[in-house]
Amino acid sequence: MYLNQLKIGNITLPNNIILAPMAGITDRAFRKTCKQYGVGLVCTEMVSSKGLYYKDEKTKQILNTQGEQRPISMQIFGSDIETMGYSAKYVSELADIIDINMGCPAPKVVKNGDGSKLLLNLDLVEEIVREVVQNSKVPVSVKIRKGWDDENIVAVEVAKRIEKAGASSITIHGRTRQEFYSRKSRLGYHQTSKTKRIHSRHRKRRYQNKRRCKKHV
Ligand SMILES: Cc1cc2nc3c(=O)[nH]c(=O)nc-3n(C[C@H](O)[C@H](O)[C@H](O)COP(=O)(O)O)c2cc1C
Repeated sequence: MYLNQLKIGNITLPNNIILAPMAGITDRAFRKTCKQYGVGLVCTEMVSSKGLYYKDEKTKQILNTQGEQRPISMQIFGSDIETMGYSAKYVSELADIIDINMGCPAPKVVKNGDGSKLLLNLDLVEEIVREVVQNSKVPVSVKIRKGWDDENIVAVEVAKRIEKAGASSITIHGRTRQEFYSRKSRLGYHQTSKTKRIHSRHRKRRYQNKRRCKKHV
């Protein structure tokens, strides 16, 4: 096991073991137990930015971290710029890190354009991250999946845009939305006919370069 300190923006975590946010699981009791066993960072369950905007008491309760050790990350989700900006201001008064959920596959979330549905609209991803960063006093991290489906693997492109928009860290769940939680999480990706063509072009170029190099030695 390689335990190292990890920096996210100006927050230094005691180690690089991070509890994955899980709706219905990572509540206060679960987070406290994981902290006792030494994890470097815990995260709340995701909360709806609309819930916070409309001052829903149940939503606010999910962010109750009374008596917990710091640092704590709090996860928000949404696709509406105004409510995400509002939530960033609200949550940055309570959290050490704000995490934006752009990976949730649940139908009730994606039908509103939230969670992993955002991976089909990278301009909006960038806009949301910029808005949250601008309204937050604490570092912002973003959780994505590797893409919507095998035809839309966007992790690298979206990570670059998220970085450009000012986020301090990115977590990639190595499944597509289409995969939900099935199979093993993998950061590699299936070969679609498009990626196969690109790979075979790369292989051909590599082979040609090798031959060229050999000729010159
Ligand atoms: C019951 C459950 C709830 C989850 N809720 C969230 C969530 O609220 N926010 C989030 O970013 N990921 C959520 N996830 C995804 C996990 O954080 C994690 O990224 C995913 O399970 C990949 O880990 P694995 O390869 O061990 O399955 C959830 C996963 C499970 C199983």
